[in-house]
Amino acid sequence: MAMNDQRVAIVTGANKGLGLAIAENFVKEGKKTVFVIRNKENLEQTKNLFQEEVMLEQVMFIQLDVSDLNGIKKAVNQVLNEWGRIDILVNNAGIRFETPIEEINEEEWDQVLDVNLKSTFFFSQAVIPVMKERKWGRIINMSSFGGQAGPLTSGAHYSASKAGQIALSKTFARSLAAYGITVNTVAPASVRTPEMDKMDPEKVAQMIETIPLKRAGEPKEVADLVSYLASDSGGFTTGATFDINGGRLMR
Ligand SMILES: NC(=O)c1ccc[n+]([C@@H]2O[C@H](COP(=O)([O-])OP(=O)(O)OC[C@H]3O[C@@H](n4cnc5c(N)ncnc54)[C@H](O)[C@@H]3O)[C@@H](O)[C@H]2O)c1
Repeated sequence: MAMNDQRVAIVTGANKGLGLAIAENFVKEGKKTVFVIRNKENLEQTKNLFQEEVMLEQVMFIQLDVSDLNGIKKAVNQVLNEWGRIDILVNNAGIRFETPIEEINEEEWDQVLDVNLKSTFFFSQAVIPVMKERKWGRIINMSSFGGQAGPLTSGAHYSASKAGQIALSKTFARSLAAYGITVNTVAPASVRTPEMDKMDPEKVAQMIETIPLKRAGEPKEVADLVSYLASDSGGFTTGATFDINGGRLMR
């Protein structure tokens, strides 16, 4: 990929796990990359990873809770004021709880749906006008195996939010295709992130036994798929869901 690719990409939840790997790939590819990070401390830590002078011109850090709709509008305006364009959006930020059905209350339901699904809709809505103007755009929504197959451990609210993202991708994909904007879903399972490292190693080993490829995925493997979807080569692919789960779900 060209090092002088001046495209501007926004990645939400870019301080760790998949979001960080995706944003790091974009920076390496020469894209101007906006790291959307919920809290200040995580933002500062992530900033410290990008201190080389050549990189500093290429990165922007915005503190934002993605469930704050005014905040989304402000963030989009800030990027447009500073860099004048937005070409790629990765709706990656997400939260997951394992609460059983009987114990999910309205507050937790709303929290999960707001962070995972509402933000996906409104962030996408906010970047569409500028993508339409340029007749080029890429939106990639980070869903989950849980939204496709019914979760093994995650709660019903998580699963519903992730299924909702798949439906949103298809709806946006149809309505934006005429403008050169593609919208796709990535549905991972069992990819190693800091969360997995905190789990009981015995539980992780048991989970890996159920994966045909007998290992956890690596964040870079997901990031490389996202890079493809965000590239010119991904231009004939829209409304699709990409499984990246070691063979756990074959359909
Ligand atoms: N790792 C996996 O195997 C896996 C499997 C299925 C789906 N996913 C999905 O991939 C995405 C990334 O997952 P991960 O494994 O890297 O998880 P993670 O928990 O390591 O990262 C999630 C990121 O989202 C951010 N975030 C959470 N709430 C936010 C908010 N309100 N505003 C802004 N940022 C917020 C977190 O700070 C974090 O940076 C999530 O949407 C998750 O549901 C991951």
